[in-house]
Amino acid sequence: MPKTYISELAKGFYLLRVDDEKVKYFEGLWYIPEGISYNAYLMVSNEKTILFDGWKYSYEKEFLETLSKLVDPKKIDSIIIHHAEPDHSGTLAKLLEINGSKTEVYGHTLAKKMLEGFYKVKLNFKDVVDGQELDIAGNRLKFIYTALLHWPETIMTYIAQDGILLSGDAFGAYSMPEKLFDEDEETVLKYLPFAKKYLVTVIGHYREHIVKNIEKLDKLGLDIRLLVPLHGLVWKKNPRVIIDYYKRWAQAVPEKNKIVIIYSSMYGFVDKAVLMAAKELDQKGYKTLIYKFTDTNYAPISDILGEVIDAQGIILGTGVYEADLFPYMRHFIDLLIEKADSPRPILILSSYGWGNVVRKKIEERFKGSKFKLIDIIDFQGLPDGEVEYRIREGVKNFLNADFRGLHADGLG
Ligand code: FEO
Repeated sequence: MPKTYISELAKGFYLLRVDDEKVKYFEGLWYIPEGISYNAYLMVSNEKTILFDGWKYSYEKEFLETLSKLVDPKKIDSIIIHHAEPDHSGTLAKLLEINGSKTEVYGHTLAKKMLEGFYKVKLNFKDVVDGQELDIAGNRLKFIYTALLHWPETIMTYIAQDGILLSGDAFGAYSMPEKLFDEDEETVLKYLPFAKKYLVTVIGHYREHIVKNIEKLDKLGLDIRLLVPLHGLVWKKNPRVIIDYYKRWAQAVPEKNKIVIIYSSMYGFVDKAVLMAAKELDQKGYKTLIYKFTDTNYAPISDILGEVIDAQGIILGTGVYEADLFPYMRHFIDLLIEKADSPRPILILSSYGWGNVVRKKIEERFKGSKFKLIDIIDFQGLPDGEVEYRIREGVKNFLNADFRGLHADGLG
């Protein structure tokens, strides 16, 4: 049985959470041994009952059981859809079946098309637009259009009376935190790396929209006292913490002296070159994280994406494989550019067997990205003393690289 939770966050306003510990690959893509939670919310008054979103379809039974502890599911008057993705809308069709499809469903006009297409249902749908306010049972709900957090139909709802911001995917995270709230430092510190990994892997492609939408929320001057996302912790002690981290990660603000190395090595040649670079970085006092694809190791790409977003620089090592880069490195580089494209120095270390195609292939792959290729150090087989010298020089240039108008030494 999955763990489910009910918590009254404000008078008549409830969190309904389920922990998904069965999921291994979120979206069928991102490896998350830490699991994830799905949060729905419910507002109950004498006059009306409003449900905000739902859970993933695999937890349909548990969702209805949990909901039934608070209200009769037949008596839900309105459902607000912040995001149509099935990890939040998967329980909608069953609920409407119980309700006889009479329940009003509110959301962005795009959500209607998606939901009716996904679940083959006909909705009693009410479009909402940016800035629209709605009075339901004495509560004033203000809808805020927050496109591409994480799909084009995404909205947030602000309930001024209790300072509640229902934020959809935004400000959520992977993992199944033991606590429901940001109540202590230990909980928050343990949670933040999962939030960063979630942001980059799930919303990373739309990072500029994270920044724009946070600025939009700030301009609205909302008094956010309870920040309730669709995944993970509810923020009530200090909602600004996660908002500020989200902005910082979306802007790819680098952490001083943090370098991430990702490499493949079939027979240990690239491995040796990476050790030479790592030794040089270590001697200069840099904090280096190393991930590898070898005959004994498969690097966790989801974790790496979470780490590269705030690295000061990235070193990639690859062999040549069938006249191209090593396949896992091709895959990783494509995801790096798709999810974490940012003005960062990149240093390449590459060993080839009989044909050196690395320079051409690397330049083709990084063409049009914001990453700055500092040097490509290519060599046949094992790196010798001359290659070691080139690596030392390459690392020096990589660390001195000027990017984003800031010198690396000046980064905070
Ligand atoms: Fe949590 Fe984009 O769905």
